Amino acid sequence: MANTEYHVSLHDLTHVFDDGRRSLTALSSVTIDVPPGQFTSVIGPSGCGKSTLLRLAGGLLTPSEGTALVDGEPPRKAQRAREIGFVFQDPSLLPWRTVAKNIALPLEVDHLERTRELPDLAELLDLVGLSEFRDYHPYELSGGMQQRVALARALAFNPTLLLMDEPFGAVDEITRSALRYELLRIWERHGGPAGRKTVLFVTHSVSEAITLSDRVIVLSGRPGRVRADIAIELPRPRTEEMEQTEPFLDYAAQLRRLLKEDAQ
Ligand SMILES: Nc1ncnc2c1ncn2[C@@H]1O[C@H](COP(=O)(O)OP(=O)(O)OP(=O)(O)O)[C@@H](O)[C@H]1O
Ligand SMILES: [Mg+2]
Repeated sequence: MANTEYHVSLHDLTHVFDDGRRSLTALSSVTIDVPPGQFTSVIGPSGCGKSTLLRLAGGLLTPSEGTALVDGEPPRKAQRAREIGFVFQDPSLLPWRTVAKNIALPLEVDHLERTRELPDLAELLDLVGLSEFRDYHPYELSGGMQQRVALARALAFNPTLLLMDEPFGAVDEITRSALRYELLRIWERHGGPAGRKTVLFVTHSVSEAITLSDRVIVLSGRPGRVRADIAIELPRPRTEEMEQTEPFLDYAAQLRRLLKEDAQ
């Protein structure tokens, strides 16, 4: 990691989608600095540019204005070095490959020189609780299990930065709540050599954002701007009981108020 204070630096990002016929400003002057190891959630109304923000941070898109840096360099560099793990809402597993072979796929197709230690397959399967299902195919798994496969696949390169876009959006509420604690357990346990992974996590769920995060960024409606940047000062490890405590409920009320004001 270069000697920079922040792992991810997004400065004055504006993004305009323009295909020559129509022009749409998705994000406007967004500045977010994320220190290494921080778990940051991004929340905001549908269409406000959350996925766009994640794609800019991961080097999948180039900003129209402003700069996006990972480790002080353009994100594509970190992406090419497989320092960034992506998890999207849709697990996008290959249906003809088993769980184990889906997880191992990035390692098979990549011929990068290994510059860091990588977890082995058994470790990854164990981490996401799917050891028993290694030879199953995606259609034989529940939605939550498929998301766990996608998470294991994203962790195969032991990335220092995880970009997660509503990874638990398609599963039921109970599974979703279990998955968030599982993710926290993995995050606590599976730090890289430099400590915990940095996570940028997009969600629509206020309670998910609070439970997981050190910090929640609220974006305004389109074009997305940073409307609030709130430190979540709850002790770790987070627990389900904590969700009923006053500080948690206060954060939830504050975030819901911000989201509601924006909808008016
Ligand atoms: N490839 C694209 N080409 C043109 N417009 C796009 C493209 N991707 C996104 N947009 C537009 O940019 C805006 C922001 O989209 P984005 O997907 O970032 O929103 P979002 O906050 O992730 O929404 P949601 O919560 O519904 O996932 C939307 O109005 C969308 O129509
Ligand atoms: Mg989105």
